Amino acid sequence: MSMNASKNHNNLDEIYNNIWECLELGVKERRSDYHTFSLATTDGELSYNRTVVLRGYDAKDHTIIFHTNNLSKKIEQIRKNINVSALFYSRDDKIQIRFMGDAAISNQDDYCDERWNKMYAQSKECYYQNIKPGNYIDNPDVVKTESIDLLSENFSIITIKVNSIDWLYLSANGHTRAEYLRSNNFSGKWIAP
Ligand SMILES: Cc1cc2nc3c(=O)[nH]c(=O)nc-3n(C[C@H](O)[C@H](O)[C@H](O)COP(=O)(O)O)c2cc1C
Repeated sequence: MSMNASKNHNNLDEIYNNIWECLELGVKERRSDYHTFSLATTDGELSYNRTVVLRGYDAKDHTIIFHTNNLSKKIEQIRKNINVSALFYSRDDKIQIRFMGDAAISNQDDYCDERWNKMYAQSKECYYQNIKPGNYIDNPDVVKTESIDLLSENFSIITIKVNSIDWLYLSANGHTRAEYLRSNNFSGKWIAP
C-alpha cells in the first residue's frame, strides 16, 4: 500500500509536511516515484523538459537539488533564465507536485567536492566523457568515459530555490489542490482543482 494512503489530505499543514516527506522518500528510495522528476527550463524562447534524479532537499531553506553535467544544454538554458519548474508525479499516491523556483549552479567548489566524494565510481564516469553531451556524433561507439576519482570540472550541482508549490491529489471523492508560496511564507491556500 502506498505511504500516503493513510495521510490526511484535508489539512493544509499536513499536506505541506507530507510534500517534504515525499521528497525524503525520493532521495532515499530508488524505487520511489519521487526519486526522479521532470525539470523544465526555458531559454527565454523555447521550453525544454527532461528527467533528472532528486539528490537532495532542504525543507527549511525550501530547496531541491540534482546533479548534472556542466556542459549540458540545460546549464546553458539556466544561465539564460534561472526560472525552472520541477514536476513530480506518483501514480501510487495519485499526487502531482509542481515546484517553481530559481536555479543556482555550483561548480568546482567545496560543495561539489563534498558531494562528489560520496558518489559511486560509476556515477563519476559520465563526467569524464570524451564528447560533450548534446553534440552530434557519427556513431554511439565513439563516446568513451573514464573512471577517474578526481572532482570533474564538468560536475555541477543545481540548487532550486523553491518559490511556489502546487499540490494536486486525485480522488474519486473529488480532487484536492493546494498552493504554497514563498511570498506568503509557504502558508497554504486551497485552490480549485
Ligand atoms: C531516469 C533518468 C534519470 C536521469 N537523471 C539525470 C540527472 O540526474 N541529471 C542529468 O543531468 N540528466 C539526467 N538524465 C538525462 C536527462 O534526462 C537528459 O537526457 C540529459 O541530462 C540531457 O538534457 P539536456 O540536453 O536538456 O541538458 C536522466 C534520464 C533518465 C531517463
